[in-house]
Amino acid sequence: MSASIIDGKSSAENLRNQIADQVRHLNSQSQIIPGLAAILVGDDPASQVYVRNKEKQTMDCGMMSAGRKLPSDTSQKDLLSYVEKLNNDSSVHGILVQLPLPPQIDPSSVIQAIRPEKDVDGFHPSNVGALASGEHGLIPCTPMGCNMLLKEQLGDLSGANAVIVGRSNIVGKPMAQLLLAENCTVTIAHSKTLNLKKVCRQADILVAAVGLPQFIKADWIKPGATVIDVGINRIQKENEIGKYKLVGDVDFTPALDVAGAITPVPGGVGPMTIACLLQNTLIACLRQNNLL
Ligand code: GUN
Repeated sequence: MSASIIDGKSSAENLRNQIADQVRHLNSQSQIIPGLAAILVGDDPASQVYVRNKEKQTMDCGMMSAGRKLPSDTSQKDLLSYVEKLNNDSSVHGILVQLPLPPQIDPSSVIQAIRPEKDVDGFHPSNVGALASGEHGLIPCTPMGCNMLLKEQLGDLSGANAVIVGRSNIVGKPMAQLLLAENCTVTIAHSKTLNLKKVCRQADILVAAVGLPQFIKADWIKPGATVIDVGINRIQKENEIGKYKLVGDVDFTPALDVAGAITPVPGGVGPMTIACLLQNTLIACLRQNNLL
């Protein structure tokens, strides 16, 4: 058996095209252009790449990108004042501060400073609470993208046993809320879970979000399961010193013989995350203009 490979790149492209159409329509009807401000503090190389991609795709789908790069020694006070300026700027509908932040800045204070209506990452406690209680907030982008891929692949998820490996605020916890809302039976496993292999083998839907390269082995996967790999890990290529490749949290090639369907890395969840950020920016803009 060879698993179907879930094409996140093509799903993300479809979503971006739909968003671009809606942005064009909004602009022609109301002269409104959705605006996203992505703030990068410091020069973490991976964050620079992510923010550059976010900015490019924002502009490619017709939105305004009002990004800003701040030096790595920026004080918390200065960052908070900048966030407040964006909170009060009506041309900016979405604000995101790229994580991780330098050590002098407390990420929770920054997240809480963003107006919940503009919190397109969905990390503000109001949005976390809204997701947990089934109200309309903004949903974190990576779990939203995983959920879309799962529904495209499987249709109705009701009754499925879903196991999420990883309990981060960015992925694991919101993913659990989304799958619960889809009527899955949800388990969140993590580094302290006993007999993780056995727990994973119960999963009809296995979401890997641990941040450890090729951690989840083929014999942890229930035959026919749908596997969503959130990991993006850079590892050295075998026999090629100084060359790197990206791998997920699942040991992909052997997993192909067991899973029913699986997302690749790269080209799976990653592209969906940015497309969902654009979707959140459009939703935030429509709500701020009382159009949704
Ligand atoms: N760092 C890693 N993932 C994310 C994300 O989804 N949003 C932000 N702001 N920072 C991140």
